[in-house]
Amino acid sequence: MASLGVNIDHIANVRQARQTVEPDPVPMALLAELGGADGITVHLREDRRHIQDRDVKLLRETVQSRLNLEMAATTEMVQIALNNHPDLVTIVPEKRDEITTEGGLDVASNEEYLKRFAMKIQAAGIPVSFFIDPTHEQIQASLKAGANWVELHTGSYAEASWTKQPKEFAKIEEGTAIAKSMGLRVNAGHGLTYQNVEPIAKIKGIEELNIGHTIIARSLAVGLKEAVREMKNLITNPRNEELFGLHS
Ligand code: PXP
Repeated sequence: MASLGVNIDHIANVRQARQTVEPDPVPMALLAELGGADGITVHLREDRRHIQDRDVKLLRETVQSRLNLEMAATTEMVQIALNNHPDLVTIVPEKRDEITTEGGLDVASNEEYLKRFAMKIQAAGIPVSFFIDPTHEQIQASLKAGANWVELHTGSYAEASWTKQPKEFAKIEEGTAIAKSMGLRVNAGHGLTYQNVEPIAKIKGIEELNIGHTIIARSLAVGLKEAVREMKNLITNPRNEELFGLHS
């Protein structure tokens, strides 16, 4: 059975929208673990649009399960990985103007560069995963570039219409079998939801599913009622004692 890596980037998205301190993804990671997360995933983007350097540092100190750091293959990021020593580094492609990670890493066209890059991280004892489309070419190239893991991109499956989904599902199933037969370990993720996760969860050989947006969205749905109730209670029953700063 696949384990669950919870991607908490979207908590940081809400914080950064106000440039404030809440919601803080660091204590939220603990809640995710209490809910059963087997790992916590964060993507430190070059533009720092959601997760910040301090988040990675504090999560490294507090995450009790596993910390998976997603990052682009840049000199700055390799240093951050070496400084923080996550349990897994997942190399992802990154474009400045994209809303989320689009498409898998083109390992086949950058094999030598990625191999040298991965080696620097692996030399510190950190295993490396490449986030790739589930094609034979990219899986083969990942093996040649020395990846320990591949994370198969489930976005095309998730976005496919009902009639096209079986074909996209088969690509992930076949990709998993191919990668396993080559000795690679396999994770998968992107675009998975409460509606589409079950068939993917049943694929034998996938070790971990990385899921973010749908879980954070659901947490608003299941938590909003209580959050409003708490605020309403403060407004209807304010405390009688003198509150800080309001009285001289
Ligand atoms: N895996 C990778 C490599 C990703 O970049 C992302 C998105 O940040 C995810 C998994 C999670 O995708 P989603 O937020 O759609 O569940």
